[in-house]
Formats: sequence, structure tokens, C-alpha cells
Amino acid sequence: TGLGTVVVTGAAGQIGSVVRAGLRGEAERLVLLDRVGLARQSPTEEVRQLDLRDAEAVTAALEGADAVVHLGGVPDEAPLSDLLDGNVRGTHNVLEGARRQGVGRVVLASSNRLTGFYPVSTTVTPEMPPRPDGLYGVSKVAVEALGRLYADKFNLSVVCLRIGSFEDVPTERRHLATWLSPRDCLGFVRAALTASDINFAAVYAVSANKRRFWDIEAGAALGYTPVDDAEVFAPRIPPEGDAAEHDPQGGVYASPEYTLRY
Ligand code: NAI
Repeated sequence: TGLGTVVVTGAAGQIGSVVRAGLRGEAERLVLLDRVGLARQSPTEEVRQLDLRDAEAVTAALEGADAVVHLGGVPDEAPLSDLLDGNVRGTHNVLEGARRQGVGRVVLASSNRLTGFYPVSTTVTPEMPPRPDGLYGVSKVAVEALGRLYADKFNLSVVCLRIGSFEDVPTERRHLATWLSPRDCLGFVRAALTASDINFAAVYAVSANKRRFWDIEAGAALGYTPVDDAEVFAPRIPPEGDAAEHDPQGGVYASPEYTLRY
């Protein structure tokens, strides 16, 4: 109940489902938005089917919200027009709706793929310039820029979470660096909702993986230090395909083919 009214976009998705279950007991009212239909699972939940590209519907859904966790959108490489519509326009609608409704905190789902062209030997901090590994990463650069604009210009309080690889357990070599466990994901989302005195922050949401290539101090400043380490699973993951030091962090996502197929 400490969180008041929290709106979650993309609530039917992989991460949305975990955030929904995790916040259920903590939010006084949990408003779940998605373009696919959802069934209410508890008395504190409200479900609404809408398209995030519909600005009026988004603004209406944010009425009375204390915070919004914006997860809805296109989660991977896609044709540019889909990324612009789903991620850029969708995020603009959420920020504009939040401004109009006076929402106190906006948490935006950003991505590690915004810096996927840094080599695996570099530890990337949120202050370093973006090096997206594809058009999806470019859309997340725009998502963060929109967040910063609304923070600077309209004094909205915005936290961008640069999510790693959200998986129950790591299954690939790359995950040994990039894994974000469900427990740590919830920890970062909770911290992003409750940290005080924030105008704008961008942080990597990644588990405490020994091999991680992202700085987590900014996350600690937000109030969360991750607890899981993908290394525990290393013996179960076949050793093939380990990256060399100059290889991009994005791995296969950074290959030309990954973008050219669209
Ligand atoms: P997902 O695809 O499982 O969930 C996204 C949800 O958004 C879906 O339920 C979908 O129906 C909804 N949605 C998409 N476009 C919509 C629209 N125009 N209107 C209304 N609803 C719409 O994706 P996932 O994995 O849960 O990701 C959530 C967010 O986190 C995304 O923004 C993604 O880019 C970001 N992210 C995810 C990572 C991961 O490892 N899963 C890694 C980095 C970032």
C-alpha cells in the first residue's frame, strides 16, 4: 500500500507479469495496461486494454496515478516504423499523459542494447555516449532522450532502467554477463519507484554477475544492489561462443544480418 496507485504498461508481457505479481501486495491500486486482454487477479487490480499509440486513451488511464512503470512496446529488432510507433510514440504518449495527470514518477524500460557496440572488455557507465547495436537500440536512445526532455523541461521525475537479459536462469554464454534475474528485476523496479529526490536517472538493471560489463553504482545510488550472480550457472552452459575482448557486447544482435533482415 506504500506505493499508492501504480500503472504498469505492457503488463501482459514477460517482465510485466513478474512486476505485476511483485507489486500486487505493495500498491494500493495496480492499473494494468496492455493491448492484449488481461483478467483481474486481485481486488486491488484494475485491467485496461488499450494501444499505447492512442494518446487520449493513455492519458485517461493515468488518471490518479502516483507512478507508472512503462514496459509496453517492441522488445527487439523490428522494422523502423514499428519501433518508432511502438517505442518512441508510445513512450511520448506515456510521458505526456504523466505530465498532464501530474504523475510523480515515471519508470521507463530502456535496454542494454543502447550500448551494445561497446566491446566486452569495456565497463560501460550510464554517462558514456550511446552506441546502439541496432535500430531497436536506437529507439531506446530516443526513449531515454524523451525521458530526459520531460525531466528537464517539465520537471517530471524519470528513471530509465537499462534492462539486461531478463530470464529465469541464464542459458547462453552472453547471459553470464547480461543476466537480470526476476528477483533483481523487481528490486530495481521497486527502487526506481521509491527512490526520493530524482529528476532524471539512467541505470543498468543487471544482476551481480561476476562477468557483467556494466557499472551498477548508479543503481546502488538509486537504492538497490543486485544479489544474484549468473556465474553459479556457468558450469551448465556449453563453453562455445565465448566473446573475444574486442567483440561487441551485443553479440549476435550487433551483427549486420540482425538488422538487415528487416
Ligand atoms: P514483451 O513483449 O513480453 O512484453 C511487452 C508487452 O507490451 C506485451 O504484452 C505487448 O502486448 C505490449 N505491447 C506492445 N506494444 C503495445 C502497444 N502499442 N500498446 C499496448 N501494449 C503493447 O516484452 P518484455 O520482455 O516483457 O519487455 C518489456 C520491456 O522491457 C520492453 O520495453 C523491452 O524493450 C524492455 N527490455 C526487455 C528485455 C528482456 O530481456 N526481456 C531486455 C531489455 C529491455
